Amino acid sequence: MSAARVRPGGPSVIDIPSARFPECLDVLHAAFGAEVADYGITAENTPSNPAFWDASVIPSLVGRGFELIGVEGDGRLLGCVFAGASRRRPGVWELRHLAVAPAGRHRGYGELLVAESARRARAAGAQTLRIGIVAENLRLAHWYARLGFVTTESRRQYAGLPFTVDHLELTL
Ligand SMILES: CC(C)(COP(=O)(O)OP(=O)(O)OC[C@H]1O[C@@H](n2cnc3c(N)ncnc32)[C@H](O)[C@@H]1OP(=O)(O)O)[C@@H](O)C(=O)NCCC(=O)NCCS
Repeated sequence: MSAARVRPGGPSVIDIPSARFPECLDVLHAAFGAEVADYGITAENTPSNPAFWDASVIPSLVGRGFELIGVEGDGRLLGCVFAGASRRRPGVWELRHLAVAPAGRHRGYGELLVAESARRARAAGAQTLRIGIVAENLRLAHWYARLGFVTTESRRQYAGLPFTVDHLELTL
């Protein structure tokens, strides 16, 4: 995995401080808000989707131990991801809610955030980075496959969700 499209002296990886959680929430709303309609996701059937988060969710995830990693350029937050050790699976880190706002896509920021999460997970002694994705989002699945992820569980159904979930893992 590389972040070849991110130019030296350009966007950088940061830990997002609490003062910037509102800006981060804007990025999450924009990134996921652009996708939800394609998968029948609404605030009613999937209130847990980041498109519908209120201001309490980010501090709650960070309080549970997730690191909130961002990519920033020209003082603006362009993307973010939550990463942290799995509570149930020893040796596994989870990647959650990866988001790059539509205006910043296709420049390698998403890959940069995945690479940074993998680096931190490896440094913490994890052997595996795990993510759950909307299985119907084939483009996303292909992208993760390009980054080295393999599907470990396919089309799992969760009560109440209008889509199925693929679980993917990257060996670190
Ligand atoms: C997935 C996502 C983070 C990629 O961000 P990015 O900065 O564009 O990623 P990169 O530039 O590193 O890689 C680009 C690749 O991502 C994939 N991609 C980009 N936008 C996408 C989208 N809307 N849906 C699915 N895959 C997408 C494509 O394969 C793209 O390749 P291309 O540039 O050759 O077309 C971004 O599209 C996003 O925020 N999507 C909405 C939220 C989401 O689904 N997050 C994943 C949760 S598991």
